[in-house]
Amino acid sequence: MTNINQKITPVGFPHFHYINEDLYVENIPLKILSEKLDTPLYVYSRASIRESWNKYAKAIKDKNVLICYGMKANSNISIVKELGFLGAGFDIVSGGELKKVIAAGINTNKVVFSGVGKKSWEIKIALEYGIKCFNIESESELRKISKISNILNKNANISIRINPNVDANTHPYISTGLKENKFGIDIEESLALYKLASTLPNIKIVGIDCHIGSQITELAPYIDTINKIINFAKKLHKININIEHIDLGGGLGIKYHNNDKIFNIEELLVFFAAKLKENNLHNIQIILEPGRSLVGNSGILLSKVEYIKTTLTKNFAIIDAAMNDIMRPALYQAYHGILPVYNKNNNKQYYDIVGPVCESADWIAKNRLLSSLKEGDLIAIESAGAYCMTMASNYNSRPKAAEIIVDKDKYYIIRQRESIEEIIQKELLIPIE
Ligand code: LLP
Repeated sequence: MTNINQKITPVGFPHFHYINEDLYVENIPLKILSEKLDTPLYVYSRASIRESWNKYAKAIKDKNVLICYGMKANSNISIVKELGFLGAGFDIVSGGELKKVIAAGINTNKVVFSGVGKKSWEIKIALEYGIKCFNIESESELRKISKISNILNKNANISIRINPNVDANTHPYISTGLKENKFGIDIEESLALYKLASTLPNIKIVGIDCHIGSQITELAPYIDTINKIINFAKKLHKININIEHIDLGGGLGIKYHNNDKIFNIEELLVFFAAKLKENNLHNIQIILEPGRSLVGNSGILLSKVEYIKTTLTKNFAIIDAAMNDIMRPALYQAYHGILPVYNKNNNKQYYDIVGPVCESADWIAKNRLLSSLKEGDLIAIESAGAYCMTMASNYNSRPKAAEIIVDKDKYYIIRQRESIEEIIQKELLIPIE
């Protein structure tokens, strides 16, 4: 019988759990992983990703719903492959992400292409690979896609991204559905753009798109959006523009803290499907683009305490991960839980967990009451499966960390640790004259 430590329940429980005092990912102690692979290290749990997928799979059962993973959350090609094989389509925002889908060996026929700044080469390869739909963000983009499709003698399936002017009640940097945001077309102006789209060569209207923001924890903004979009779809039908799908975007929030409240995906889909039926919009496929909620709680960032620095007012634990590895705290003042890898349960103290980067913004957690730490201790930064590695940089000439997936008692390296030589190799010396 394993004795699971009851005092700390990781948000990613049960796949991240304590056995006696040691923190495990599935069946592997994190301590062993740090010895073998060094730190900082991204560690994902395959069972946890599958469990997140299964929640969606259960909610979409018997409904006409396609889940297109918002792969900006974590675009490692092994994660893409895993979710692709489980049945996901993909929401991409660049040619790079499309090439990753292809590199993962996944068919591109369930790819939707979002983003305000699609370049010609990106539109071209998306047409060549025959994606499911372009989510259009402006009239200029619509005209450009029509022109390129015409040259290539292809038809582009399109949706127009409607900005429903709904407040998603989330951090302003990740709120996208308000009038002042750069995203989408004002709902008042969208009808005219659909009319224009119906006249342009090589354009086939297939849907309506929207996305109101990220880390949304309440159902209400989605309900508002669905009501607005359904009214809009009815207006389109009146002018004989019949759509095949409505894409509600992503944004479904996760628990970063055990006390956080999130809503049930099934509730959202039941409401959406009923509304479609009630409005005689039969056979319309629902698309969702969840990113964070498929991977966020399935990963931790493993890091080592390099120094303890006690000042007159603070205890700083200076760790070997930094804002270049996990920039969410610096950028959004985001909360990530901190778990001791060896939970000795001794005297607790308040710590600021900070990285070695030369910026005061380089903090990971502030004022956290933790079992007393010493140099050489390991910590796990929770909920690091989404928007951590994908937002990593080489700031301070720090190589990017390695990523692994644990599958029961095995692990797979899915991204090699970057070397400093690789960083230097891309740079060129000027001659001294
Ligand atoms: N679809 C579109 C068009 C999006 O822009 C996004 C995210 C998603 C889907 C996926 O949203 P999700 O289900 O993951 O919330 N870096 C920020 C999050 C930025 C989200 C950007 N767009 C963070 O770390 O919180």
